[in-house]
Amino acid sequence: MAPQETTEPRPSSLSLSLLLVLLHMSPEVTSEHLASLPPGCLKGMLRASCQGLGLHTFPEMLPLTIEQLDLSHNHLRVLQDNTTEERPNLRYLDLGGNQLDRLSPGALLPLRWLQALILAGNTLNQDYESNSQALWPLDHLHFLDLSANCLDGDMAAVYVANLSSLWSLDLSNNHIRLLARGTFLGNPNLLDINLSGNYILQIEAGAFQGLLQLRELSLARNSLHCISDFSLRPLWRLNLSFNALQFFATEEGNWGYQLQVLDLSHNQLRAVPMLSALHHLRHLNLSDNHLASLESHPPPLPQDTALWYQEVIRPNLTQSGQNPAVSLPGLTDLDLSRNQLGMFPVDFLSHLSALQRLSMAWNCLQNLSALQPMSVLPLLPLRTLDLQGNHIQTFPSWVFEMLPSLKVLNLGDNELQLCWRTEAGQDGPFRGTPQPFGSAFQLKHLSLSRNGLRKLCSSAFSPTTLFSLDLSGNTGLALVPSDLQGLQHSLRELSFRGNGMESTHLGLPCLQELRVLDLSGNTLDSLPWTLNCSPFLQRLDLRKNHLQALDTEALGSLSGHLTSMFIAGNPFHCCTLGWLVALASANVSIPDLGEAQCVYPSSDGGSWGPLARDHRQFCTWWQGTQAAWVLLAVVSLFLICCVVTSLLQNSPRLPWALRLRKSHQGWN
Ligand SMILES: *[C@@H]1O[C@H](CO)[C@@H](O)[C@H](O)[C@H]1NC(C)=O
Ligand SMILES: *[C@@H]1O[C@H](CO)[C@@H](O)[C@H](O)[C@H]1NC(C)=O
Ligand SMILES: *[C@@H]1O[C@H](CO)[C@@H](O)[C@H](O)[C@H]1NC(C)=O
Ligand SMILES: *[C@@H]1O[C@H](CO)[C@@H](O)[C@H](O)[C@H]1NC(C)=O
Ligand SMILES: *[C@@H]1O[C@H](CO)[C@@H](O)[C@H](O)[C@H]1NC(C)=O
Ligand SMILES: *[C@@H]1O[C@H](CO)[C@@H](O)[C@H](O)[C@H]1NC(C)=O
Ligand SMILES: *[C@@H]1O[C@H](CO)[C@@H](O)[C@H](O)[C@H]1NC(C)=O
Ligand SMILES: *[C@@H]1O[C@H](CO)[C@@H](O)[C@H](O)[C@H]1NC(C)=O
Repeated sequence: MAPQETTEPRPSSLSLSLLLVLLHMSPEVTSEHLASLPPGCLKGMLRASCQGLGLHTFPEMLPLTIEQLDLSHNHLRVLQDNTTEERPNLRYLDLGGNQLDRLSPGALLPLRWLQALILAGNTLNQDYESNSQALWPLDHLHFLDLSANCLDGDMAAVYVANLSSLWSLDLSNNHIRLLARGTFLGNPNLLDINLSGNYILQIEAGAFQGLLQLRELSLARNSLHCISDFSLRPLWRLNLSFNALQFFATEEGNWGYQLQVLDLSHNQLRAVPMLSALHHLRHLNLSDNHLASLESHPPPLPQDTALWYQEVIRPNLTQSGQNPAVSLPGLTDLDLSRNQLGMFPVDFLSHLSALQRLSMAWNCLQNLSALQPMSVLPLLPLRTLDLQGNHIQTFPSWVFEMLPSLKVLNLGDNELQLCWRTEAGQDGPFRGTPQPFGSAFQLKHLSLSRNGLRKLCSSAFSPTTLFSLDLSGNTGLALVPSDLQGLQHSLRELSFRGNGMESTHLGLPCLQELRVLDLSGNTLDSLPWTLNCSPFLQRLDLRKNHLQALDTEALGSLSGHLTSMFIAGNPFHCCTLGWLVALASANVSIPDLGEAQCVYPSSDGGSWGPLARDHRQFCTWWQGTQAAWVLLAVVSLFLICCVVTSLLQNSPRLPWALRLRKSHQGWN
C-alpha cells in the first residue's frame, strides 16, 4: 500500500519542482558553436543522454544549449581539471554508476552553475578529502546524490561540509555507522536527507542541529535501537522503518512538532510509543512490530542492551497511565498489521477521532464477540478497516454501529461463520449476530475470501448497498439465490474465483447492476442463466472451468456492454464455436484467446488444439459424421413408424390390438 499523501506537497517533490522551474528559467542560447557529443549519445534540444556507452572520458566539447547531461553507467574514473569548458547552461549532471574515485579540485569549476549532481554508485570513499574540494565551487548546487559510495560518517560529513545551497541530499546505501554532532551544520537549507540503507547505530545529540528547514528524513534500513529524544520539530516525514527500535519517544514539551508521517514499521516495539507531542501526526505505521496490546505501560528494559543505550533511554514514562492515543487527534491512517494483538482495541480507538483507515491485518484477533463493548459505543469516522489474516469467527454487528461510515472491510483469511446455528442455542457465539452485515448501511466493499465458507445464510447482507463482494477462495461454497438477497440493485463486482463450484451450486439472483464477474477456477459447465439480467456486465472471467461451449443466447443479451472476457483453461469443443463468432461480432475482446485451447471430439478422448485457429478442415469429418448420425436417426424413426403402423393394421390376432378394435367398435 502506498503511504497516504498529506495535503501539503512532499518536501522532496517540492525541491524537485523548484529545481525544474529553475531549469526552465535558464537564459536562451542562440549560437551553437563547434560542439559535439560522443557517437551514440541521444540528444534533444536541452538534454543529452550518453548512458551506458562505455565512455572513459568526460565529453570535451559539450553543446552549449544542453541543460541536462546523463553520463551514467560508463567507465569514467577520473575527472581532471580543464576536461570541460564553461557551460553556464548545464544544470543537471548524472555521473552515477561510473568508477569515479578521483575528482581534481578544479574539475567541476567550469560547471559551477550545476544545480543537481548525481554521483551515486561510484567509489568516492577514496581520497575523499581532496575529492570533496571538487564540489566547493558548486554554489548553486541544490541536489546532491552521493548514495552507494561506501562512505562512512566522517567522509559524508567532509563531502557536505561546505555546500550551503543544498536542498536535498541522498546519502543512502553507504557505510555510515555514527552520525556525529553538527554533521549538517554547513547545510542550513536542507529540505530532505536520505540516510536509508546505512549501518547507523548511533545518532549523537545535535547531529541535525541547524536544520530548521528540514521536512523529510529517511533513516530506514539502519540499525537504530532507540530514539529517546526525537526533537526535529520542523520535520514533516520521518521514516524509521526496518531498524531495531525498541523505543521511540519525543522530547518533553508539547510545542512545535510538525511531524505528519511517521513510519516505524518493521521494528521491535513492544508498546505503542509515546507520541503525545506530535499533534499534527496523520499517518502512523506500526506494522510488523511486537505489539501484543495497546495498553500503555512502560516496556520492560531488554536484558541484552548496551550500557550507552540504557544511558540514553530516559524517556519520561511517568505519563504511562495515559492512553498514548489521547493526543493524536489528527491521525487519519494507522497501520497495526503484523503484530500480536489479540483484542479489537475499542478503547484505544475511541481516542482517535479523525481515524479514517485502520489495518489490523495479520494479528491474533479471534472472537470479536468476546469483547465486552463499552456501554456507550464511541462513534468513529473510520472508512477502511483491514482485518485480513486473523482468526475471526464471529463478526458482531455492533462494529458497524461504532463505525457508521465504514466503506471498505477486508475479512479475508479468517474463519468466519455466517450461518445461524440453532443448535448453538441462545448462549451460542451467534447470539445477536444473525445478520452480521445487516447494519452495515454504508459498506461498499467487502472481502470474505478464504474463510472456508461453504454457505452464506439467507439475508446475511440485507439491506446493504454493497458495491463489491469477494467470495473467492472458499472451496466448496454453495450458493442459493436468496443468499445475495438485497444486493440485486447495488452489487457491481462479484468474485467466486477458485471456489471449485459446480453450476448447480452457483445460484445467483438477478444482479441488475453487475459490472464485473469473476467465475474463474470453478467447475462450471454452463453459464448461470441470470447473466441475462445483468445488462451492464463489462468484464467476465471464465478461466479454468469445465465449459464446452458458451450459451449464445445468454451472451447475446450482454453484447453492447461486455468489453472483455477471459476464457482460457476450458475444454471447449473445437467444432461448435458459433459462440466465438458471436462474441467477435459483438466486439467483445478476449485477451487470453491465444492461450485458450479446445478439444476435437474423437473416440479416444479427443486431442487439443489452439482455440483461435481455423478448425474447418478438422471439423468437416466430424460434421459429416454428425450429419450421418442425424440421417440415421431420421431413417430409423421412419422405419419404426412403418413397422408400428403395419403391426397395427396386419396383426388383428394380437390381444391388445383386438381389444383396441373392440373398443372402437363399441363406440361406433
Ligand atoms: C506500513 O509499512 C509496511 C512495511 O514497511 C508496508 O507494507 C505498509 O504498506 C505500510 N502501511 C501503510 C499504510 O503505508
Ligand atoms: C587548466 O587551465 C589553466 C588555464 O587555462 C591552467 O593554468 C592550468 O594549469 C590547467 N590545469 C591543468 C591540470 O591542466
Ligand atoms: C569551504 O570552501 C571554501 C572555498 O569556497 C574553502 O576555502 C574552505 O576551506 C572550505 N571549508 C571547508 C570546511 O571545507
Ligand atoms: C532513499 O534512498 C533509497 C535508496 O536509494 C530509495 O529507495 C528511496 O526512495 C529514497 N527515499 C527518498 C525519500 O528519496
Ligand atoms: C520508508 O522506507 C521504506 C524503505 O525504504 C519504504 O519502503 C517505505 O515506503 C517508506 N515509508 C514511507 C512512509 O515513505
Ligand atoms: C518526568 O515528568 C514529571 C512530570 O511530568 C517530572 O516531575 C519528573 O521530574 C520527570 N522526570 C524526569 C526524569 O525527567
Ligand atoms: C465468543 O465470545 C462470546 C462472548 O464472550 C462467547 O460466549 C463465545 O463462546 C465465544 N465464541 C467462541 C467461538 O469462542
Ligand atoms: C464493433 O466495432 C466496429 C468498429 O469498431 C463497429 O463498426 C461495429 O458497429 C461494432 N459492433 C457492435 C455490435 O458494437
